[in-house]
Amino acid sequence: MRLLIIFALLSCIVNSLPLLFQDWSFQPLSLFNFVKKDRLIKLSPTIYQLISEDDKLKLRKKNIKFMDITEQIPIEEAYERGLVNKPNAFSWFDSLFFIGSKQVTHLSKQIPVYNYPKTTKYNSEVKELYKNIDTDLMFKKLSKFTSFFSRYYKSESGAQSAEWLYNELEKIIKPVNDKVNITKIHHNGWDQFSIIVSIPGEIEDKVVIGAHQDSANLILPSVMRAPGADDDGSGSITTLESLRLIIDSYNKNLYKPYNTLEFHWYSAEEGGLLGSVDVFSRYSNAGEVVVGMLQQDMTGYTQGSIDANVEPHFGLINDYTSIDLNNFIKLIIKSYNSIPYHESQCGYACSDHASALENGYPSAFLIESEMKYTNKYIHSTLDTIDRLDWDHIKEHVKLTVAFAFELSLAKELH
Ligand code: BES
Ligand code: ZN
Repeated sequence: MRLLIIFALLSCIVNSLPLLFQDWSFQPLSLFNFVKKDRLIKLSPTIYQLISEDDKLKLRKKNIKFMDITEQIPIEEAYERGLVNKPNAFSWFDSLFFIGSKQVTHLSKQIPVYNYPKTTKYNSEVKELYKNIDTDLMFKKLSKFTSFFSRYYKSESGAQSAEWLYNELEKIIKPVNDKVNITKIHHNGWDQFSIIVSIPGEIEDKVVIGAHQDSANLILPSVMRAPGADDDGSGSITTLESLRLIIDSYNKNLYKPYNTLEFHWYSAEEGGLLGSVDVFSRYSNAGEVVVGMLQQDMTGYTQGSIDANVEPHFGLINDYTSIDLNNFIKLIIKSYNSIPYHESQCGYACSDHASALENGYPSAFLIESEMKYTNKYIHSTLDTIDRLDWDHIKEHVKLTVAFAFELSLAKELH
């Protein structure tokens, strides 16, 4: 009995520390075993951990990145494969100090090597499309997208914003909807679905362009407003506008892909890449081939670069991405864009390209700038549309259309 009281007292003290210090990052991971640790996360290519749903937010606040793979590997299997230890009587103590993860020797999936084009071939056709880029239209669409109270994947407005996006995409593909497919990908455990628009090519190999549709206010995601204009409303609208231009060209018989071209809007990136992990693990289980995936998460903020007196540029992420695909993107930027790229690092599992790579598909991540100059207002009520630079978003659209054209028309990649 006495032990129990000491235990309860200790719990109260530890849990009130963050209140005392006004520092939420101080809060330890779930203290006791009766807080269900039923989420399996991956923190690096070799580190897995079992944590609770609440712990995920605590990790986010500490800026620790992870991939939630609970749906992909059943917990019993994780124990059997030795990815994580079975909890024991002392696990609550371990979690105080964030012990409990263990290093495993991991056989990561081999990423196939493809012969990406070494020169661009469709310069005049692609540049013709650029005349139709409509930044006013993009502004209008992003205004609506950011007007949902939050696009948090577990919120009602997050499901509504997905419906709105789906309807917009349906309108875009309407003239060709007998040939182009649109699919809602429903996920297990929350209502906001991911969306895939697919333009079938002559072969089934896929080129994928992605962005995440969800937003999150990291103070209190379920109750606070999260406009998510830059993160990743900007990437979602960049992708939407690129699709609009390509569909227009397809409708006029000026373009027909050789490889199947897909546009993805993932749900629940902010929950640990949940939507994209689901999509790419389904592809992998079905034996689908993805020759290249390009993620764009945050495409519109340049004030960080301007303040530092640095030229506007793309941030090309060179860690946990495909070297060959990055080289192809460098070629595209040099041939099609009026701004350069700067290479930068984002860490493990920082956006949905990591889910593609994890499932054996070469992927790349292009962001608004080097990491150090990116938008500091994300994950808060201040991630608003007025802070975005539409000339910069336009450069991302130019890049996307060129990437889509050149790679979807590339033959002999194998
Ligand atoms: N857009 C961010 C990634 C990011 C953050 C890019 C800061 C540039 C600067 C993304 O939506 C995000 O928040 N990712 C999480 C990881 C995710 C797996 C939970 C992160 O970076 O912590
Ligand atoms: Zn984010």
